[in-house]
Amino acid sequence: MPDADKTKTEEKKDFGIGVPMETPGFFLKGSAHLYWGMKNRLSHIFNPKSGHTVMLAFDHGYIMGPTTGLERIDLAIPPLIPYVDCLMCARGALRACISPEVRKPVVMRCSTGATVLKDLSNEVIGVTVEEAAALNAAAITTQVCIGAEYERETLENLAYLINEGNRYGIPTLGVTAVGKEMVRDARYLGLACRVVAELGAHFVKTYYCEPGFDEVVAGCPVPIVIAGGKKLPELQALQMAYKAIDQGALGVDMGRNIFAAEHPVAMAQAVAAVVHNNEKPEKAYDLYKSLKG
Ligand code: R5P
Repeated sequence: MPDADKTKTEEKKDFGIGVPMETPGFFLKGSAHLYWGMKNRLSHIFNPKSGHTVMLAFDHGYIMGPTTGLERIDLAIPPLIPYVDCLMCARGALRACISPEVRKPVVMRCSTGATVLKDLSNEVIGVTVEEAAALNAAAITTQVCIGAEYERETLENLAYLINEGNRYGIPTLGVTAVGKEMVRDARYLGLACRVVAELGAHFVKTYYCEPGFDEVVAGCPVPIVIAGGKKLPELQALQMAYKAIDQGALGVDMGRNIFAAEHPVAMAQAVAAVVHNNEKPEKAYDLYKSLKG
């Protein structure tokens, strides 16, 4: 029991009468009305100072097997961790290859059920939200395949994660996957991002497109991060990241263009310079060259 408050008339308490309590907003787009736990987790994923994030995606093996650059996750990923804000991966890779002493937040891939050998839209949720919480996930994720044969099922998967994640204060990243036959233009990506955001995803991962990426961002009421996509020459990857941030993306969730770069550690730092410091791509490429030297 706390001691009884000794209220004496001469001990004046200070309630700051006349000073209104601040009710600040929140630095992330569309996130001001979230619960404390959600905001706290999002503040680990996105840097509150820059408002941006460099997420390192290495969940490719869950559909592709040992893709180039990720043959040995235990060798490829740990050297990059100091230079990124967040890790995105599947539970098995996390448990087997990443030290639990790592202090970076993890966005956990929770879907499964398809591989590159079959229809990628035919997925189910394979990791429960309780399991993601047990692995200390900062967010959970699955992809939606708008316009694909299993569109409805992928939306159900996303709805399930959002509903369950809301119970634990764990935000959900909605990934807009693009099927082989889908055009990655602003109309399609704008539709997909908006659908995902309206369902309740707390942030959205999509692809950069031009023209019209600024409209994709404007039409999506929550933060957008871009996937890197297929490996590009380093300068081109930095240019793409710069244009995406310049047009309103709040970060990248990049895989192959970092871990499959000629010098991944240098590339991670060059991407971070673009994302957090608004460095011009040419200057960031100079940084890349000097670091690789
Ligand atoms: C695909 O398997 C995953 O969703 C990746 O996380 C995503 O495509 C981002 O990786 P990348 O930058 O290599 O496209």
